[in-house]
Amino acid sequence: MDQTVADLRKDYTLQDFNEIDANPNPFNQFQTWFAQALAAQLLEPNAMTIATTTPDGKPSARMVLLKDFDERGFVFFTNYNSRKGQELAENPQAALVFWWAELERQVRITGRVEKTAENESDYYFDSRPANSRLGAWASNQSEVIVSREFLEQRLREFQQQYANQEVPRPPHWGGLRVIPTEIEFWQGRPSRLHDRLLYTRLDDGGWKIERLSP
Ligand SMILES: Cc1cc2nc3c(=O)[nH]c(=O)nc-3n(C[C@H](O)[C@H](O)[C@H](O)COP(=O)(O)O)c2cc1C
Repeated sequence: MDQTVADLRKDYTLQDFNEIDANPNPFNQFQTWFAQALAAQLLEPNAMTIATTTPDGKPSARMVLLKDFDERGFVFFTNYNSRKGQELAENPQAALVFWWAELERQVRITGRVEKTAENESDYYFDSRPANSRLGAWASNQSEVIVSREFLEQRLREFQQQYANQEVPRPPHWGGLRVIPTEIEFWQGRPSRLHDRLLYTRLDDGGWKIERLSP
């Protein structure tokens, strides 16, 4: 039977999320939900959308992988010369979105973005498989290229260059940390009356929690 896009509709009934359940610290709350996303064996629970903008306000968004988080913020790795890297260099503000469909949960994070320390980027880069490390050299991320073959040829060149030696981290590749000022936890509920709890960072470093209308 044909189904139109407009007919796609799912009621969210799994669970609720109330003030009484909310950890006063949003990083602890994120840790709880992330652990549940891991336990549920979701496909790539650390995949998140990151939205950036040009200084004159043109937005762009794409998926990246969360690779670390703690009270300092949420870290992913990328090419600093890429479109997102350039936009963040000029306007270091970003929004992150996680969607854990099987748990009917969304998390939204906004904040300032900083490069991670060099040793943090080195540490993660060195943990990557050899071909991923070489790929970071081969790909001038976001640039137009003439063909697939061009990319594979560049990979071969770097494979030769670094044969029998450790692949160093390219200077244009490393981590970015989103330092949140707001984190919103969204739990789907029946009849679109979802639970939304927004944590906002206070001047004293603490957090206030408010409920938003769905
Ligand atoms: C599930 C998923 C995870 C991804 N993870 C990353 C990542 O961690 N870092 C990255 O630079 N690109 C990642 N990408 C590729 C980006 O979505 C994007 O194509 C690339 O970073 C170039 O984006 P830009 O041109 O806007 O800078 C991922 C893509 C998908 C679909």
